[in-house]
Amino acid sequence: MDRGAGIDVTRLPTHVACVMDGNGRWAQARGLPRTEGHTAGEEALIDTVEGAAEIGLQWLTVYAFSTENWRRPPSEVRFLMGFNESLLVRRSHELHEQNVRIRFVGRPDARIPRRVRARIDEAVELTAANTGLTFTVAFNYGGRAEIVDAAAGLVRSGVPADEVDEAALVKHLYDAEMPEVDLMIRTSGENRLSNFLLWQMAYSELVFTDTLWPDFRRRDLFDAICIYQARDRRFGGLNR
Ligand code: FPP
Repeated sequence: MDRGAGIDVTRLPTHVACVMDGNGRWAQARGLPRTEGHTAGEEALIDTVEGAAEIGLQWLTVYAFSTENWRRPPSEVRFLMGFNESLLVRRSHELHEQNVRIRFVGRPDARIPRRVRARIDEAVELTAANTGLTFTVAFNYGGRAEIVDAAAGLVRSGVPADEVDEAALVKHLYDAEMPEVDLMIRTSGENRLSNFLLWQMAYSELVFTDTLWPDFRRRDLFDAICIYQARDRRFGGLNR
């Protein structure tokens, strides 16, 4: 077991978010269909979740399917739906045993097959009382959509305009308990946010790595946390 040498466990980020990018390119580089890249990404995901739990991280959120991913070829969308479902079936008990609490954020959508929604609900319910890592899957998620949905929720709740502030809006985000993201990691050399957790990433440290997602392992997570810990976070103020 790699125990995260070099990490100061007394100063861990509270919330790490990952854009798991590069599955398609990983597969194409090997002459394989893109979907094989997603399959290989499962090992990366599980190793990362276990590594996060091992060092005592509290929140880890991954981008599994964006509101824009519906534009991919229907066969790949179908694959991703079935893959997410089977991954939940195969892995949720294992994560449960590791005291991981599984949550989902995203927009409910009739295009998500009923059985996928059922597996999501089961995994969330099974692990709801766990007290270790909160592992959140962003599924049919878009950062702007989340803010729009929160604004709609605010209006529906009848809050008077002069009482609308950041705290009031946060109550209507998909997961009001989700802390702000301290560290966002994106793999595969792409330097973009791509509509991920826009509200929660206002002050995030961003770490971009050329590693393609299927090659990512807990050691890469630990390296990113070391980079984060070497940075000087000022939140718009001055530290000295
Ligand atoms: C991006 O690679 C990755 C995805 C669209 C999704 C990956 C999903 C998983 C690893 C499974 C997650 C499932 C759960 C339940 C957490 P890409 O296809 O954009 O790669 P490319 O940029 O090389 O084309």
